[in-house]
Amino acid sequence: MKDDELRATVRERYGQAALRVISGAKSGCCGAGPASLDDPITANLYSAADAACLPETAVLASLGCGNPTALAELREGETVLDLGSGGGIDVLLSARRVGPTGKAYGLDMTDEMLALARENQRKAGVDNVEFLKGEIERIPLPDASVDVIISNCVINLSADKRRVLAEAFRVLKPGGRFAVSDVVLRGSMPAAVQRSMELWVGCVAGALKEEEYRRLLAEAGFEGVGVEPTRIYQFEDASAFLAVAGLDSEVLAREIGGRVMGAFIRARKPGRVVP
Ligand SMILES: C[S@@+](CC[C@H](N)C(=O)[O-])C[C@H]1O[C@@H](n2cnc3c(N)ncnc32)[C@H](O)[C@@H]1O
Repeated sequence: MKDDELRATVRERYGQAALRVISGAKSGCCGAGPASLDDPITANLYSAADAACLPETAVLASLGCGNPTALAELREGETVLDLGSGGGIDVLLSARRVGPTGKAYGLDMTDEMLALARENQRKAGVDNVEFLKGEIERIPLPDASVDVIISNCVINLSADKRRVLAEAFRVLKPGGRFAVSDVVLRGSMPAAVQRSMELWVGCVAGALKEEEYRRLLAEAGFEGVGVEPTRIYQFEDASAFLAVAGLDSEVLAREIGGRVMGAFIRARKPGRVVP
């Protein structure tokens, strides 16, 4: 599939996921379909304390694979950018952390997600937030304008990850931090998994291998790269997302169980942090 067709499919599927939340339902497996009770990728990522300070529709719209704001260092007065902000959960949490002198931007290409995120911002009553429409491959912000880039289960969806990382590097200030949750692979995926569009939209088939992520970050200019597993998907988890993709095979689940993980990826743009 060509890059623009892939992007159109991702946009359409996440548009549907946003509409499901607006109508009171929830999506599962990174938005790939209706939720099962215990979605292995998106379930139980946020603490009760985090959830308590957010509108219910922001929590319901969560389609991530980690909790980047829990692991990222965020300071009062900083500017944060969330790549692929979805219903806005991590933007709203970041906005609280950077306070009224800071700012949290969310960037998303899907109109329905942006509408949901802006509605969640209104319900949360926060002013230091702005949701931007655009693609993470072409970030609509100036060079060196952001202190911290966060993202939650989005970079795996891009057909041009090299470009996304180059854009993240461009908009970060010298000394700026990359602090991202994403699905990461340890080892190769079987061909049936790699070919599955359902598993691409579900954040598995497009995921980078750990060593590729490290290499692409270093090639973009980042230093201090770290990849920390936060959840490793075992046989039962693999069976669940394979079933959503119509690949209900015990053999495949055994093959990929333990090789797919949710991870926190950190890196830094070289240079001196100007306070
Ligand atoms: C798996 S959801 C994650 C949403 C959010 N980060 C969260 O944790 O709930 C992926 C989001 O990224 C957006 N997205 C995917 N590819 C994108 C791209 N190339 N540019 C901008 N947004 C993108 C989708 O519209 C969707 O809202």
